[in-house]
Amino acid sequence: MSGLFITLEGPEGAGKSTNRDYLAERLRAAGCDLLLTREPGGTPLAERIRELLLAPSAEPMAADTELLLVFAARAQHLAQVIRPALAAGKVVLCDRFTDATYAYQGGGRGLAAERIAVLEQFVQGELRPDLTLVFDLPVEVGLARAAARGRLDRFEQEAQDFFEAVRQTYLARARLAPQRYRLLDAAQPLAAVQAQLDRLLPELLERARG
Ligand SMILES: Nc1ncnc2c1ncn2[C@@H]1O[C@H](COP(=O)(O)OP(=O)(O)OP(=O)(O)O)[C@@H](O)[C@H]1O
Ligand SMILES: [Mg+2]
Repeated sequence: MSGLFITLEGPEGAGKSTNRDYLAERLRAAGCDLLLTREPGGTPLAERIRELLLAPSAEPMAADTELLLVFAARAQHLAQVIRPALAAGKVVLCDRFTDATYAYQGGGRGLAAERIAVLEQFVQGELRPDLTLVFDLPVEVGLARAAARGRLDRFEQEAQDFFEAVRQTYLARARLAPQRYRLLDAAQPLAAVQAQLDRLLPELLERARG
C-alpha cells in the first residue's frame, strides 16, 4: 500500500477548507480510509509554528524566517502525520502544502523558487503530492469572503498585488505540470464548485484504489 496524497491549494477565501470537508464526506461514503489535515500545522507542535506565522506582530518577520518556519512545520507534519498515514495506505487530504510556499513565500514575498526548491528537497526528499486541486478565483472575491469571516491574519493583511502574485504562481505551476494539477473555478457558487468536485470523484477513487 502506498496511499494517495491529495492537496488543496488556492488563495485566501477560495473555499479550500469548505470543499476539503465536502470532498472528505464523498470519499468516506465511497469507502476511502481518509486522513484530513492542514498546513501550516497538522500536529500540536506544527500548530504552534502556525500561530507564529499567522499572528500579526509589531516586529516584521524576515522573509527567510517565514520560509524556514513553514518548512520546520512541514518537517514535523511529515514525520508525525503524513508519512505514517501514506505508509498505512490512507488517502491524505491536506489543506495547503508546498505549492502554497511557492505561491506565498515565492510569488508573494519574492523569494527565488530555486531556494524554495532546495528546502523542498531537503525536507520532503522525493515526496510530492499525487494530485493537487487548485481553487482559482479573482483575488478580490476571495478577500471579500475571508474578510466576511472575521479578523484578518498576518497574510490576509497583505496588499492586493501580493495576492495577485499568489494567484498567478498557482496558475503557472498548474500549467507546467497538468498531470498533477486540477484547476477548479472557485468563484462559482458553492453548489457549482461541489459539482466540479463530483466530476473529479471517479478519477480520485480510481487512483485511491490504485
Ligand atoms: N463557492 C463559494 N461561494 C461563496 N462563498 C463561499 C464559497 N466557498 C466558500 N465560501 C465561503 O467563503 C469563506 C471562505 O471559505 P474557506 O474558509 O473554505 O476558504 P479557504 O480557501 O479555506 O480560505 P483560507 O485560505 O483563508 O483558509 C467561508 O465563509 C465559506 O463559507
Ligand atoms: Mg482554510
